[in-house]
Amino acid sequence: MPEPATDETTLFRQSWTLYDSLAERNYMFHREIYAHVTALLSQRRAGGPYSLLDLGCGNTRFLAPCLKSAMPSRYAGVDLSEAALKEAREYLSGLDHVALHHQDMLQAVQAAEVSFDIIFSGYAVHHLDAKGKQELFHACAAKLTAGGQFILVDVVREEGQTREEYLEGYLDFMRTQWTAVRPDHLEEACDHVAAYDFPETFSDLKRMAAAASLTHVRLVDRFAQHHVLVFSA
Ligand SMILES: C[S@@+](CC[C@H](N)C(=O)[O-])C[C@H]1O[C@@H](n2cnc3c(N)ncnc32)[C@H](O)[C@@H]1O
Repeated sequence: MPEPATDETTLFRQSWTLYDSLAERNYMFHREIYAHVTALLSQRRAGGPYSLLDLGCGNTRFLAPCLKSAMPSRYAGVDLSEAALKEAREYLSGLDHVALHHQDMLQAVQAAEVSFDIIFSGYAVHHLDAKGKQELFHACAAKLTAGGQFILVDVVREEGQTREEYLEGYLDFMRTQWTAVRPDHLEEACDHVAAYDFPETFSDLKRMAAAASLTHVRLVDRFAQHHVLVFSA
């Protein structure tokens, strides 16, 4: 697939190491959040073999250890960043039946020829507009096996908060808390968030999920704006 000059994946295609260093410093609560993901996958694994589709997988640096402690029988990762996918292959070594796809996540779910027991997405869905998110919920609902779960890790707006108010708060959080990031890198990250982050409120996500027949919703935990949510039929 030809790569566009500038879009929501530019930061990840051109400066994967910047995102990686933010995650490493736990500025987006990867440590706490992926501990929850490990617990969720372990619970699922205890019920028998499971397959997992990972949307916007990035380099899988944080999901790979979760997968290794609750081995899926099949893993498929999807991302638009070739640089991230190249690293993902390394992080996922040791797992069986791994497939990595350089593809748009919505198109990937819609085109999937098999179903999955778990569909997971970490910090990627907020890049879609509201219509795209609704389509994603429909596509995920259609590709989950009976009893399957859509585990969504993402930033979420407060109820009643506009996108502008959300951005004001999040950019302030970045500029005051992400103190170890080089100023030019911090501004690059802020520009990315201001241009490409479209988080929904929890109510909106629940409404979209319900419209796709994913009526059971669980807020597992949240760390400031960073949420762990589970949707199922
Ligand atoms: C913030 S990173 C998250 C990486 C990892 N999942 C995590 O939790 O740390 C977002 C990833 O989503 C990818 N992405 C954004 N929009 C996408 C789309 N429409 N289709 C596929 N991947 C996308 C980016 O390339 C990037 O690798």
